[in-house]
Amino acid sequence: MGDGARERGPVEHGPVLSDKVAIITGGARGVGAAIAKAMIEAGARVVLADVLEDHGAERADELGDRATFHHLDVTDEVGWASVVDTVVAEHGRVDALVNNAAILHMGTIENTSAEVFRRVVDVNTVGPFLGIRAVVGPMKAQGGGSIVNVSSIDGLIGMNSVTAYSASKFGVRGLAKSAALELGRSGIRVNTICNASGNPEMSGPWFEQMAPFIDQTMAYLEDRAIPGAIPFAAIAGAAVYLCSDVAAHVTGIDLPVDGGATAGHFVAGFNTM
Ligand SMILES: NC(=O)c1ccc[n+]([C@@H]2O[C@H](COP(=O)([O-])OP(=O)(O)OC[C@H]3O[C@@H](n4cnc5c(N)ncnc54)[C@H](O)[C@@H]3O)[C@@H](O)[C@H]2O)c1
Repeated sequence: MGDGARERGPVEHGPVLSDKVAIITGGARGVGAAIAKAMIEAGARVVLADVLEDHGAERADELGDRATFHHLDVTDEVGWASVVDTVVAEHGRVDALVNNAAILHMGTIENTSAEVFRRVVDVNTVGPFLGIRAVVGPMKAQGGGSIVNVSSIDGLIGMNSVTAYSASKFGVRGLAKSAALELGRSGIRVNTICNASGNPEMSGPWFEQMAPFIDQTMAYLEDRAIPGAIPFAAIAGAAVYLCSDVAAHVTGIDLPVDGGATAGHFVAGFNTM
């Protein structure tokens, strides 16, 4: 080791998102709000984009002067143009897009209409597609950017009675991989986070139907390398990493934040053998 290396000491990265401008869909609550907070702490300015106007405006107030709220239905192409035009007019650039907004539907295939299936795919898969289309122009013009799709563990492996959601979440992974290949030469990276849990409010409409199966639900959360629900901050940390230049050579990946749930089968008793 040369003298220079010995003197250097620990590397200090500083705020990894300094001066970056990010749009976060579904930022009004849950995981999206946590991603916004973490990105601000890492130095970014964020625009929360959501259909929940009151929650979104309140959240932006709480987050301080580096956060603003913009109404957006992610299925609305004109709405996307309005958000991106506003962000570019106000900040001069858009460095990151986190496609986090989504809806859930629970029900067997026989209890899921084609209309419901289409609606889930429209929000969860077409929404991120429209988002990527909307930011690609300004990102190319400024020389690059980072796009993160928030999928799910249900985008990596199937689950019964989550068919529409699972299909939509597999879809955003394919979208990200193809976009990564298409946009890499323009300096734009596209990656996917596959989190194994999120805001319980998302499954609120099905709480009553799920109640008799609470033991089975808990077992699902426990039978993994790191048991329990995934903290919002752990998912947010993955988004900060993927949007930062630390991940400059990372594109087209799925990053599971799942406590090892997709690593393989876990039989607790076998750890005593
Ligand atoms: N909740 C879970 O258990 C869970 C598990 C794995 C992955 N995820 C994923 O994590 C991400 C965040 O979800 P969450 O857990 O915070 O749930 P959430 O329901 O709290 O957040 C979803 C957000 O998306 C917004 N949204 C819904 N439809 C929209 C539309 N058409 N246009 C704009 N915004 C819209 C909602 O208003 C809400 O703020 C989602 O992509 C979800 O699929 C969630």
